[in-house]
Amino acid sequence: MARRATILIVEDEKNTREGLERALSRHYQILLADSAERALVALDETRVDIILSDLRLPGMDGLALVKRALAHDAQPICVLLTAYGSIEAAVAAVKAGAYDFLTKPVNLDQLELVLQRALRSRQLESENKSLRTQLDKKFGLETILGTTPVMEELFKIIRQVAPSRATVLIQGESGTGKELVANAIHGLSPRARGPFIAVHCAALPPTLLESELFGHEKGAFTGAFARRRGRFELAEGGTLFLDEISEIDPSIQVKLLRVLEERKFERVGGQETLDADIRLITATNRDLSQLAQTNKFRQDLFFRLNVVTITVPPLRDRLSDIPLLARNFIEEFARENNKPIMNLAPETLNALMAYPWPGNVRELRNAIEGMIVLAQGPELAVANLPEAIRPQTSLTPNLEIKPAASLRDASRQMIVAALEANRNNRTQAAKQLGISRRTLHRKLHEFELPCLRGRKRSTEATTAAGSITAEAAAGPGTGPDPAC
Ligand SMILES: Nc1ncnc2c1ncn2[C@@H]1O[C@H](COP(=O)(O)OP(=O)(O)OP(=O)(O)O)[C@@H](O)[C@H]1O
Ligand SMILES: [Mg+2]
Repeated sequence: MARRATILIVEDEKNTREGLERALSRHYQILLADSAERALVALDETRVDIILSDLRLPGMDGLALVKRALAHDAQPICVLLTAYGSIEAAVAAVKAGAYDFLTKPVNLDQLELVLQRALRSRQLESENKSLRTQLDKKFGLETILGTTPVMEELFKIIRQVAPSRATVLIQGESGTGKELVANAIHGLSPRARGPFIAVHCAALPPTLLESELFGHEKGAFTGAFARRRGRFELAEGGTLFLDEISEIDPSIQVKLLRVLEERKFERVGGQETLDADIRLITATNRDLSQLAQTNKFRQDLFFRLNVVTITVPPLRDRLSDIPLLARNFIEEFARENNKPIMNLAPETLNALMAYPWPGNVRELRNAIEGMIVLAQGPELAVANLPEAIRPQTSLTPNLEIKPAASLRDASRQMIVAALEANRNNRTQAAKQLGISRRTLHRKLHEFELPCLRGRKRSTEATTAAGSITAEAAAGPGTGPDPAC
């Protein structure tokens, strides 16, 4: 059901004000102000679509009001009323951004026409804006890069849960892309045209978080000078994303539970009960079920949040996504820094793939950004890598990966290294590489790598990595071992 548009009538003359109110209140929600100053307060407190203001007002005049209103977040449409004598001033107001003006005495049919046109143009504008935002931010799966089976599985779950309104809990280590997943769920949901509002719960102390979430009434506490709408209200019709949910104070946990159970809430210090028309997505990098079991997080709330759980895998479980991610980050930061798109030297890629990435994709992204900023020349060399990533970071401490001549060569070495590191256990090696066992099998054939099992025994004592690589590289003549 369409919401009735709200018109704020600003007029110091009581009769005109009330006359306009009577004429318009059938179709619109009406707010009244007898001065520009009061109109600005109302603008802070309520969502206003149109300001219908007299040009000449005591104190701040209509022109100044238009300028202030257009700079306000709400960006209402301004229509001015003016006497014949001050048409010039009305034209100045239109130049300053007012939508239109009407001369007094107001012809009500004409007024109705202007208002309808204004609302239609506002609607088109907001539709355009939301399309643009969608294009700009491309809130969808395409922002989440990955081709490994674990990521394919993640995409599948996202597509499955997006259309419903089910509450989703996203788990995963820091920097794995939980917020991207939340964004994608929103972008693929029927609420995609509504807002996506994110709150980082750990960043605020409990009292501030409460008013941030639920809003507050004027005078609710010291410093509450005006009514403020909270994130639940701002997310109306869209998605509310609460990050680091494990960190919220028990007092807020209770309130959140009530919103989820009743879909209703009040502003801090307020009496009015509001509907929570939102879809809730939460994220945590801790084990929330464990916290609930040990009573460090409310169990009843946990069950409400955990209707669907999505786990985002750490980067070390999808190593073969690294070349794709690295490539994209290189392009992104090269553009941003006006630099040519550089290639990763093969040994740099080796180092990236051998590092365990405790900070996951964020750490990789930051590392690439730093490298691009500092790098000179056409290639990103090992020397450009951040200290922590640079040291002898092969998959196993005693496995040295030689500089590879090509990406293919690097992949081949990675596979040999992974098999070696996992004592030739293919399931484990595939898992570590972030590829399926079948893909590993295919790659072994493709690279004509012999089965390492037999030779493993003979080389076990020395684990001479270099020699295994060399042996593997000698593959073509050997061919795949049918026993593998
Ligand atoms: N699969 C991916 N493809 C592209 N970029 C990614 C991917 N995963 C994460 N990123 C990028 O890595 C950074 C961290 O992602 P995000 O903020 O979503 O992680 P998070 O899991 O929410 O982290 P935290 O637990 O610290 O809040 C962002 O810049 C994001 O764009
Ligand atoms: Mg996050």
